[in-house]
Amino acid sequence: MSRSGIAVSFNLNGRTVQETVPAQQVLADFLIERGVAGVRVSCDQGVCGACTALVDGCPIATCAAFVFQVDGCDVVTVEGLSDSDDLHPMQRSFVDRFAMQCGYCTPGMVLTAVALLNRKPDPSPDDVRRWLAGNVCRCTGYASIVDAVLDAARRRHDLRERT
Ligand code: FES
Ligand code: FES
Repeated sequence: MSRSGIAVSFNLNGRTVQETVPAQQVLADFLIERGVAGVRVSCDQGVCGACTALVDGCPIATCAAFVFQVDGCDVVTVEGLSDSDDLHPMQRSFVDRFAMQCGYCTPGMVLTAVALLNRKPDPSPDDVRRWLAGNVCRCTGYASIVDAVLDAARRRHDLRERT
């Protein structure tokens, strides 16, 4: 660390970020300032999940993390989930199951759900509810969100069966 900041280097949605940042720069602010629209700040206290990103595959609250903490990590926001112009299968399930209204919470929900399926490909409804407990939705019922995650799991399962 120098007087002027900390040099960090990490991967953001497949691209290398190399910058010198203030020691206490918050990751959510850093990402939003660089145009990452899928990171939303709501509670700003690490409890609502709206600002979720995946760091080395784990969902974290970026409002409660400093930029220097992701040095050397792989950071994925909802913008980096799909490697093509198509929606990621989890996004597709959220659309098909009408699992959003205003959409403010949706990126965080989707990212957390992706992390869940990467660890547990065939989750129970209770697994989904437990994993999404840190993601708050102010609009819709949670039933359609749980349904969307289970739908994505089923689609992945069917794909595995066919291949
Ligand atoms: S804004 Fe970060 S957890 Fe709520
Ligand atoms: S869809 Fe509006 S906050 Fe969840």
